[in-house]
Amino acid sequence: MDVIIQPNPEAAARMAARVMADLIRNKPDTVLGLATGSTPLGLYRELIRLHREEGLDFSRVTTFNLDEYVGLGPDHPASYHTFMFKHLFHALNIPREHIHIPDGLAKDIPAHCASYEDAIRDAGGIDMQVLGIGANGHIGFNEPMSSFTSHTTMTTLASRTRQDNAPFFEREEMMPHHAITMGIGTIMESRQCLMLAFGRRKARPVAQMIEGSVTPLVPASVLQQHPAVRVFLDKEAASELRGAGYDRRLYENKPEWQKT
Ligand code: F6R
Repeated sequence: MDVIIQPNPEAAARMAARVMADLIRNKPDTVLGLATGSTPLGLYRELIRLHREEGLDFSRVTTFNLDEYVGLGPDHPASYHTFMFKHLFHALNIPREHIHIPDGLAKDIPAHCASYEDAIRDAGGIDMQVLGIGANGHIGFNEPMSSFTSHTTMTTLASRTRQDNAPFFEREEMMPHHAITMGIGTIMESRQCLMLAFGRRKARPVAQMIEGSVTPLVPASVLQQHPAVRVFLDKEAASELRGAGYDRRLYENKPEWQKT
């Protein structure tokens, strides 16, 4: 796990975007796993800038989003479909048929989850998965006590997650209780992970993820067992890491080819 601590979220997002852009330039048909939420917004702004100003081409890229709320259609203002088109897809040249987001209105949810996994496999697997971390240590919507080997499935949202995400809904009771999410097994099968976490609120789950035991109580801790994870943090999110100085030195002394 490479831990990369930057002075602020903007600098971290720029570095993460550079890593992603290098991958897309080397492999134009890259398969990306994408996240929603406040954390990747800076990364998405930077990808849009790279596309507009430096011609970064997404025409052969395929994307799979981590999750979607059950019961919300693509036009619902709080759906992750709406989020992704508003914050990223509207500005990139990814063909519509290359974009995959779980269907919150699927009638047969288990069948939909199975076909989502098939689509990931048919696309050749995820080359790079973008992740945020929940205040309770979740990745995707894999809440504490989720199975480490799970694949795309419907989960019941933890009350902490519902509280954190309720502000995006008109009224708290409109916040769904369930979501379709890639499983932890799906995430672990991706070839590389880019985890981003910013702000004091993330300091504790970040420290548990990087320095704690691998436990289903902190789903993100499983990433310690993934062979290629980069964690981009700002100073606040890194503030509870006992080994922050060590992490900094380790990363600074890497050769350039290992940094991208
Ligand atoms: C979003 C997702 C979640 C978020 C996490 C952090 O697609 O899967 O795991 O990454 O809840 O959310 P923010 O970034 O809003 O703090």
